[in-house]
Amino acid sequence: MDDRRVQASAEIVRKAKSLAQESRRDAQRMQTPNLPGAPDAEARANKPGASRPPPAPMTIEVAARSFHKEAVGYGFTLADFVHFASTLLGIAMDPHAGASADAEAPQPPAERFASLPVVGRNVGIRPFGDSGDRQHLDRWVADSDGRFFLLSTTSGRRQDVDHLLQDPHNHIGMVTAGDRPIGCVAYLDHRPAQRRAELRKMIGERDLRGRGLGREAALLWLGYGLGGLGLKKVYLTTLATNIGNIKINEALGFRVEGILRKEVLIDGEYHDVLRMGLWLE
Ligand SMILES: CC(C)(COP(=O)(O)OP(=O)(O)OC[C@H]1O[C@@H](n2cnc3c(N)ncnc32)[C@H](O)[C@@H]1OP(=O)(O)O)[C@@H](O)C(=O)NCCC(=O)NCCS
Repeated sequence: MDDRRVQASAEIVRKAKSLAQESRRDAQRMQTPNLPGAPDAEARANKPGASRPPPAPMTIEVAARSFHKEAVGYGFTLADFVHFASTLLGIAMDPHAGASADAEAPQPPAERFASLPVVGRNVGIRPFGDSGDRQHLDRWVADSDGRFFLLSTTSGRRQDVDHLLQDPHNHIGMVTAGDRPIGCVAYLDHRPAQRRAELRKMIGERDLRGRGLGREAALLWLGYGLGGLGLKKVYLTTLATNIGNIKINEALGFRVEGILRKEVLIDGEYHDVLRMGLWLE
């Protein structure tokens, strides 16, 4: 961590402590009976929101601990907690901060592609179906992470590849690096009248994951969804533990629309599922 970040973190902790002390003092004052007309009672009566008793310190502690527990499950690191604390303080001190945060939110793709293939800096996408594509796909979805490309996280059912490829409502793209097939993207259950579809993505070659290729491919595919298929709404469901996927989705502008608690049973364990959506303009 560089000096500026250390100082910023120390400042956040200092502010949080001072707010906590103030809130404890307030709570003690509220709990100490004193007579009407006494200076403390008058000061309290004049305070904005004085009619509502402040939350007990224990309530705040319990809420914080419960948030912490959830957030750890979603992969929050110490740096994320510092960022979160700083954002929360900013919003508490300036209620309009939410509006500016929205303005800074990642924007969906500006580029629209009317047809395939599309070519980006490091990857391209062409229609699925060249000779050898099926063998690649079969190999990729046999992988312990790649299988999520076929899995419906809402039903827990694994679609088979034949069904995926034959359903006329599905569009499948092959992601390539140069000429080499490296993964797949898909729009499932495309409903032209409703202008919506479900997004799936996969970098099938394990050694190529974590290099920004999944994000780039998803952005190109969204550009095709907008320009080629005329989509307005793109949605997806993902296991709450699939942090890489969630990070990409957030960076692309997707927002969580709901959390389905303990929705699917996978490998003997129940998992929460996030439904995320993106409105394309
Ligand atoms: C999800 C998937 C497509 C992501 O593609 P990728 O090329 O590996 O991802 P990227 O390199 O573009 O990474 C995007 C972000 O996620 C982060 N990330 C990737 N994998 C991660 C992991 N396992 N844990 C935490 N963060 C991860 C990256 O650091 C990056 O964040 P940053 O830009 O803030 O550093 C790929 O991991 C994959 O194919 N998984 C299996 C299939 C799947 O689960 N598909 C989603 C459901 S259809």
